[in-house]
Amino acid sequence: MQKLVTYAYKAVRRILIGFWLLLCKPVTWFIFYGNNIRFGKFSTSGIPFVSVAFGGECSIDDNLKMNNGNIGNPIGRPQRCVLFVDKGAKLEIGKNVGISSAAIVAYKHISIGNNVKIGGGVCIYDSDFHSIDASIRNNPEKDLVQKNNKPVVIGDNVFIGAHSLLLKGITIGENSIIGASSVVTKNIPPNEIWAGNPAVFIKSI
Ligand SMILES: CC(C)(COP(=O)(O)OP(=O)(O)OC[C@H]1O[C@@H](n2cnc3c(N)ncnc32)[C@H](O)[C@@H]1OP(=O)(O)O)[C@@H](O)C(=O)NCCC(=O)NCCS
Repeated sequence: MQKLVTYAYKAVRRILIGFWLLLCKPVTWFIFYGNNIRFGKFSTSGIPFVSVAFGGECSIDDNLKMNNGNIGNPIGRPQRCVLFVDKGAKLEIGKNVGISSAAIVAYKHISIGNNVKIGGGVCIYDSDFHSIDASIRNNPEKDLVQKNNKPVVIGDNVFIGAHSLLLKGITIGENSIIGASSVVTKNIPPNEIWAGNPAVFIKSI
């Protein structure tokens, strides 16, 4: 009996997910287009949260593969991917990039190379969001314009482990790997594995 119910459950689930996935692509296309993003071919499970301000720039090269939540990549702590680009900021995403439930927030410039894999729940920030000076931080108008922003550059073929946090001003060299749940605060050379909080050198590849 349970086997029968399991088959029925799987069939219904497949049909519902199929309909949902069919809906995701046109809705995401509309969101990208409506945010004035230059984009190529992409596939998506789920629908990302996207906000590109007037005066912000976002480009996404061909073959972006996005998972927004549990269906495409059930790795835990699911959320919709976030692509946020402030006025005057720039976000560039290269070819063949995979992103799962990650938040990429650009107040200045974030550049992501080709073939980069961004694991589930990763956050990439090029800003501190607030000033480190309390007198500025406590004044909302000043705090908005006087926060510390520095560009982030992620080279080709980089693999960022799940739930890692990449902070402002860092460059990750091509082919390098960031271990799961790391906090990256410094530049990482090409062809190395770094991990931990703060991320430190683990080994060369
Ligand atoms: C970084 C990683 C690829 C290294 O794998 P590996 O080459 O098999 O390395 P090992 O497991 O042998 O670990 C090597 C050393 O790094 C340390 N290390 C590995 N991953 C670490 C991490 N995330 N944080 C802190 N230290 C880490 C190990 O403790 C070990 O330390 P030791 O030499 O002192 O014993 C792997 O640990 C990892 O984090 N994978 C990411 C998985 C992931 O998030 N996938 C994305 C899903 S969406």
